[in-house]
Amino acid sequence: MCGIVGYVGPRQCTPILIEGLKRLEYRGYDSAGVAVLEGGTTRLVRTRGKLSALETLLAESKPTGTVGIGHTRWATHGRPSEENAHPHRVNGVSVVHNGIIENHMTLRQRLQGQGRKFSSETDPEIVAHLIDEALQGGAPTLLEATRRALGQVEGAYAIVVLWEKDPERIVVAKNASPLVLGLGEGENFVASDVPAILAHTRSMLFLEEGEVGEITRAGHQLIDLKGKPITRAPKQITWSAVMAEKAGYKHFMLKEIHEQPRAVTDTLRGRLELEEASVTLEDVAINTKTLKKLYLVACGTSWHAALCGKFLIEGIARIPVEVDLGSEFRYRDPLIGKGDLLVAVSQSGETADTLAAVREAKQKGGKVLAIANVVDSSIPRASDWSLYTHAGPEIGVASTKAFTTQLAALTLLAIHLGRRSGALSPESARQLQGELLAIPAKMQEVIGGAAQIHVLARRYGQARDFLFLGRGINYPIALEGALKLKEISYLHAEGYPAGEMKHGPIALIDEHLPVVVLAPQGPGYEKVLSNLQEVKAREGKVIAVVTRGDAEVGALADEVVLIPPTSPWLQPLLTVLPLQLLAYHIADFKGTDVDQPRNLAKSVTVE
Ligand code: AGP
Repeated sequence: MCGIVGYVGPRQCTPILIEGLKRLEYRGYDSAGVAVLEGGTTRLVRTRGKLSALETLLAESKPTGTVGIGHTRWATHGRPSEENAHPHRVNGVSVVHNGIIENHMTLRQRLQGQGRKFSSETDPEIVAHLIDEALQGGAPTLLEATRRALGQVEGAYAIVVLWEKDPERIVVAKNASPLVLGLGEGENFVASDVPAILAHTRSMLFLEEGEVGEITRAGHQLIDLKGKPITRAPKQITWSAVMAEKAGYKHFMLKEIHEQPRAVTDTLRGRLELEEASVTLEDVAINTKTLKKLYLVACGTSWHAALCGKFLIEGIARIPVEVDLGSEFRYRDPLIGKGDLLVAVSQSGETADTLAAVREAKQKGGKVLAIANVVDSSIPRASDWSLYTHAGPEIGVASTKAFTTQLAALTLLAIHLGRRSGALSPESARQLQGELLAIPAKMQEVIGGAAQIHVLARRYGQARDFLFLGRGINYPIALEGALKLKEISYLHAEGYPAGEMKHGPIALIDEHLPVVVLAPQGPGYEKVLSNLQEVKAREGKVIAVVTRGDAEVGALADEVVLIPPTSPWLQPLLTVLPLQLLAYHIADFKGTDVDQPRNLAKSVTVE
């Protein structure tokens, strides 16, 4: 998520903007900028890179002025660059924006058709044109012009606007991307998150969906998109500054577990064409007529997503898929060649083993698609195409929201390939699209059951070993559950195919071994049930993840965690959540460094 700060009051605004943006730095960004109103004009200073580079430019230009806005950009569309950095200015209107405007192409084409020129490939410039267009069309105020402009916009936005001709106010608007007003004495603030302005005031007014407003020195006002006034009392924030960076959560990992429904929503946004029952993937141009085989290559948690991807793509698109670890692929003289596609899955886009696999594939004549979370990182830059997950910066070393957005992206890819190859009918595609759109709410429901997982973590957290079992598309989730527990609690844990347990690991089973069994309704359910009974017959303690309404497993297991029903293809998006929470709460009880576990790095850029 990008960072936004705005100030209107008696003080010089530039230091306030920079200090506020620094308090949002932990979330990651790749460019920054400020716009300050000064003597009837706008001083616009932007740069690719970090705030330190922006401060260097500001030291040279020294904008003075008491009304201004600042932004740090985490690129989702358009590579990191000065011209893509926010704020964007059009005829005296300056805008910063967080979110994704779904109908950006339609709006851009209309505006260009009317002779308007664009200097960037970003969404906020479109909004600046729309507001300028409304002002030139007679809108009496900046607030009204912004309201009219947003009536044409579809998608997620947190928008903050300045206008040279009315230098006493800042206009704000929010839909699906957070924005908060800070109410001071004779001065007011706006920010994308509390930490940016907590040093100046604790009186915060959180904007809600579809609200537009303005702040001046003297006060603020809110309206809805129809222009109806809104009044709401501000909240008094009691968090410490450190807690505020985690939005009140104890750790970034817990915050990111809770962010997953929104992260999946943002990753799906603008890519599901329900009318045509298809999926659009920006600049991806895979020729399914010549596509012979697909290789999914990744490391760690991303490799677990790749393993799920094999089930999705072979099952939905009926294209052969081979999955490999980055560190193995590049040393086995792989048979990849012309007509093959390598899909590199990586949160950071910098993992050396995966990057090496990408280069090996290209060198052997294969095409490469990167599924990454960091725009313009090394792996997308080395690939032919990129499909970005819009999880926002993932701070916790243990990957959670990046993983579920990778699953969402791989599902989109499977539908895209299946529709183009003809393996997936429009009816089946529509049904799966419908289930996909319903998945964030179901994820929210599972995460809402965290209190039960908290109890299980206390009950079983003293065990020395854990075994995780799953079948089919849930087998990689068993691996992921074990990795999450290992990497943040330092307990030994193993993920295994449920059907394979009787070929060895069953020797481990006794009354001291908790066994997490993924047993949702669907393919292989009956077989998993017998595996569960094999565990019980040897006194193992079974924690079963089952579909709501399943009474059968409930009678057999020691503990039952419920998930809502969904398509078997989408079950991993739900079954992984209790395992993330179990690992988190066990680690938290043990007092390990959950966000920065020992020996681990967030991005492994060495082989
Ligand atoms: C996941 O919890 C780990 N931090 C680690 O396994 C990670 O998934 C792996 O290093 C791959 O990183 P990437 O997704 O950035 O390529």
